[in-house]
Amino acid sequence: MTHPLAMTPPMGWNSWNTFGEKINEQVVLETADLFVKLGLKDAGYEYIVIDDCWSLRERDPKTNEIVPDPVKFPRGMKFVSDYIHKKGLKFGMYSCAGTRTCANFPSSFGHEFLDARTFAKWGVDFLKYDYCNMPFGGQAPLFYRRMGQALRNSGREILFSACEWGAEDVWSWIRSTGASMYRSTGDIFDNFESMKKIAQSQLPKLASSAPGCWNDMDMLTVGMFGRGNVGNAESVQTIDQYKLQFAVWCVWGSPLMLGCDIRKLADMPDVLALVTNKDLLRINQDPLGRQAYAADTCWGNQDVGTVARLLDNNETAVLCHNFTDADRTFHSLLEKLGISYESGLKLRMKDCFTGKTAFSGRDEFSVSVPAKSCRVFLCKPVKA
Ligand code: GLA
Repeated sequence: MTHPLAMTPPMGWNSWNTFGEKINEQVVLETADLFVKLGLKDAGYEYIVIDDCWSLRERDPKTNEIVPDPVKFPRGMKFVSDYIHKKGLKFGMYSCAGTRTCANFPSSFGHEFLDARTFAKWGVDFLKYDYCNMPFGGQAPLFYRRMGQALRNSGREILFSACEWGAEDVWSWIRSTGASMYRSTGDIFDNFESMKKIAQSQLPKLASSAPGCWNDMDMLTVGMFGRGNVGNAESVQTIDQYKLQFAVWCVWGSPLMLGCDIRKLADMPDVLALVTNKDLLRINQDPLGRQAYAADTCWGNQDVGTVARLLDNNETAVLCHNFTDADRTFHSLLEKLGISYESGLKLRMKDCFTGKTAFSGRDEFSVSVPAKSCRVFLCKPVKA
């Protein structure tokens, strides 16, 4: 059996942000149908992941296996998995490295190999593996390594998605466990401050996302508009704010796990257009998988700045982010992207949101960036 590395950031949907413990078979099957119908599958979204709260509170006393909740999943997990596979999609599930999951359901500590075999039997392709109720402090590398081995020996290719919140210096060892992606922060909530905090905490860690194992900045809240498990009607975000979130996740190289209610996407054409934006996805899924870099910070803070990323085909992605609540004009030197005046080059810049193309000067480009939003460009050097 091969153990393929994720050469580009995994893409899909996870139930937690919207449904929390209210997850059930109907939601999952409808989401799979809509992945195909709305073009999400064609755009590259692949994994449909059931998060916490899918099982009964106790294991089967005879087999010791975790048992799917028969009210939420009346036809069992193999049925769900077959349904998802027939759509040409992949099926993800959730467990935890501790003694109970975060929502106090059975978890895999001490049962890693049994659970991995059970997931394999059900046709699972992806396992999110959480960090609650760890039995001993400071042992995460060991317990993640154990589930990594259990998955490798389960008889099925299962992508290992570690969810360890950035604790215990996770960047320094997570690749050794077999994980293909790993959460680097605490949980996201559907408000601007939460997204900003996560994003800015990872700005100094852009090198920690790379082919094989990607820095997962958490499930997207794009399109939630205050609804659902991590939503809050008091903090409804705007499409401009969601553009900033989606662009940051794309350019910085995070996996793209949608978290909104996919059943509402057809009525939100601007959100659907955002999450299927070809240029942004092309940047996120670039085959070279190079790290992004902070090219420029304006006024010495992290709220306003430019992050760039070298892409295949001699292109460069340029993201100008504005986390402040005032519109800003950026003047950024090409020099900061490594293009000196002496090169005789300027940039052809395609705006990823409008599709319009413009040219930089030989030494700088100027762009206006709305408050709490961004501009993103696909750039190519051309003769000045
Ligand atoms: C943790 C994780 C979340 C989610 C919940 C489920 O908080 O970080 O992403 O999986 O557990 O209980």
